[in-house]
Amino acid sequence: MIKLKNVSKIYNKGKSNAFQALYDISLEIESGTLSAIIGTSGAGKSTLLHILACIDSYESGEYYIDDVLVKNTGEKQLARIRNEKIGMVMQDYALIDDFTAIQNVMLPLDFARNTPRHKKEQAMQALKEVSMECFANKSVSQLSGGQKQRIAIARAIVNQPSLILADEPTGALDSKTSAEIMELFHKLNAQGRTIIIVTHDPNVASQCRRMIRIEDGRIVEN
Ligand SMILES: Nc1ncnc2c1ncn2[C@@H]1O[C@H](COP(=O)(O)OP(=O)(O)O)[C@@H](O)[C@H]1O
Ligand SMILES: [Mg+2]
Repeated sequence: MIKLKNVSKIYNKGKSNAFQALYDISLEIESGTLSAIIGTSGAGKSTLLHILACIDSYESGEYYIDDVLVKNTGEKQLARIRNEKIGMVMQDYALIDDFTAIQNVMLPLDFARNTPRHKKEQAMQALKEVSMECFANKSVSQLSGGQKQRIAIARAIVNQPSLILADEPTGALDSKTSAEIMELFHKLNAQGRTIIIVTHDPNVASQCRRMIRIEDGRIVEN
């Protein structure tokens, strides 16, 4: 379970360009649920998702994953939690175009102690989950948007995370491809994973059990 208690985020704290992006966010998300975070551009959705993903720190409040306090400093703890529990699907895929699909999916395994062969097997398994095993050795630059998103999802699940976070995963896709990607998230959710999707798309949001709306850094609907 995820629990945020009065979490605030200030970019450039103490500087003249300081900006408070999140105010006193309190939120609980149960394990195994599928939730959407919605809100206008600049509302703070990505900021919140990055804190949940342990990619970014926060200034005050408390963030717990499975009752473990994620400290607001300490890169080591954040990296460990990221590796063990979290799969992140970044906005605009964030794949390495010159790499093949499988090379991209293997990236999160760089620090694991497994043998290269085992890492390949893990990556192939993740590619299978997203029906992309035939494209394993294709360069990402040759793939369509929907295929890239599948690779990005494979990379997010290669470590078997219990929590998957996705930032506008259908933002750049046509409606048919969006529906296919949402099907994939539903499948991953049915396997018991907790999924949180940031989206602008009412169609995507309506498919999620829970909708969390942010405006100007505050939760206004939950
Ligand atoms: N690294 C940063 N430094 C300063 N301000 C930032 C930074 N990242 C985001 N912001 C600001 O924080 C606010 C929320 O941004 P963001 O979380 O990206 O919004 P959303 O994802 O809802 O569009 C915006 O006003 C944005 O300009
Ligand atoms: Mg954003």
